[in-house]
Amino acid sequence: MLDCRRIREDFPELETGVVFLDNAASTLKPRSVVEAMADFSIKRYANVHRGVYKISLEASKAYEDAHEAVAKFIGGRWSEVIFTRNSTEALQLAALTVYANKMLGRGDEVLITMAEHHSNMLPWLRVAEMAGARLKVLPLDGEGIPRWDLLDEYLTRRTRVVAFGHISNVTGYKSPVREIARRAKEVGAIVVLDSAQGVPHTPVNFRSMGVDMAAFSGHKMLGPTGIGVLWMREDLAETLNPPLGGGGTVERVEMVDGSIKISWERPPWKFEAGTPPIIEAIGLMEAVNYLSRIGMDNVEEHERRLTKVLLEKLGELDYVEILGPRSHERRQGIVAFNIGGMKPDWAGLALSRRGIAVRTGLHCAHILHDHLGSPQGSVRASLYIYNCIDDIEKLVDAVEHVYKRHGGEGKH
Ligand code: ALA
Repeated sequence: MLDCRRIREDFPELETGVVFLDNAASTLKPRSVVEAMADFSIKRYANVHRGVYKISLEASKAYEDAHEAVAKFIGGRWSEVIFTRNSTEALQLAALTVYANKMLGRGDEVLITMAEHHSNMLPWLRVAEMAGARLKVLPLDGEGIPRWDLLDEYLTRRTRVVAFGHISNVTGYKSPVREIARRAKEVGAIVVLDSAQGVPHTPVNFRSMGVDMAAFSGHKMLGPTGIGVLWMREDLAETLNPPLGGGGTVERVEMVDGSIKISWERPPWKFEAGTPPIIEAIGLMEAVNYLSRIGMDNVEEHERRLTKVLLEKLGELDYVEILGPRSHERRQGIVAFNIGGMKPDWAGLALSRRGIAVRTGLHCAHILHDHLGSPQGSVRASLYIYNCIDDIEKLVDAVEHVYKRHGGEGKH
């Protein structure tokens, strides 16, 4: 079991007294992540894979170690771990790789769901348009959960990609990834998983889940901003050409009979164009080591326990409308809600005055909010390892206070 009180000591920002419940947007940083980055930056920094002098070779080794550490964390191989800027960029890279390698043509289909974060919606819309393909969108049930029961109707022999979220950033619903992947494979589609809210919160092994590509961000799992990951199954990473070229991506560029001929580097380097996020990789390596010391099973179990209490306590307030599944067993770590018809931003400001940090608005999931009858958005509480039961109590007290004090104000 995880000791949230002990963990809190590693996060100096909590000493300000903030009740930090905006972890789905970004997590706080433990001292060790910041120290690892600072130590590397001021004592060991150099560019990577571009020099034969001692500190450059050592920096290159550290950068490679970061790939190895992340790979181990997700049960993959280091060559499958491509560092990007964040999940959003990783998903664009996935979509552009599919497009650039002509895996999507006129009349082909990409399947996503109505619950997707825009980061896993807009890139597919774009490449579908570019390829003359069709973007199909799986509908949702009344709780905002994708109608996976309709999957077989939506999959056709023209489906080339099935892209969906691992854990919803609004409802906290966790998708049955293995089952979806198995059925997608039956029609020969590749499976792309938006795991921005998955990897930080639950143990994963993408290969055994049947996934082909998966995206996640460092900053949502104790690491720094500016680094994300596209995990790409080894055989795809070996054979596919990168859509973005530049420094670091090639083994050789030559003029052959008046044309430029490229020999790509091996993966992951051929997908990492330009000077990569070196310092951030060192931070992410420490972040995954930190999470591994706690154990991802413990992280998941802790969040589930807190989510149950949060749902129960908010559920007792008849003026609170909870978005998504009411059962804690169908969600993880995320509860979005509205307070008695108050505008979410207005409620968020009132909660902030009581020391609570939550996200408000549409959470880059407009269609999902429309579907749930909340086109104005929601207030979202999202949990992590340093949240304890008292954070939930403080949130619920603050919600009660805000409603009693201002219930008639700030309505839309
Ligand atoms: N995608 C992040 C969120 O849902 C920023 O808050």
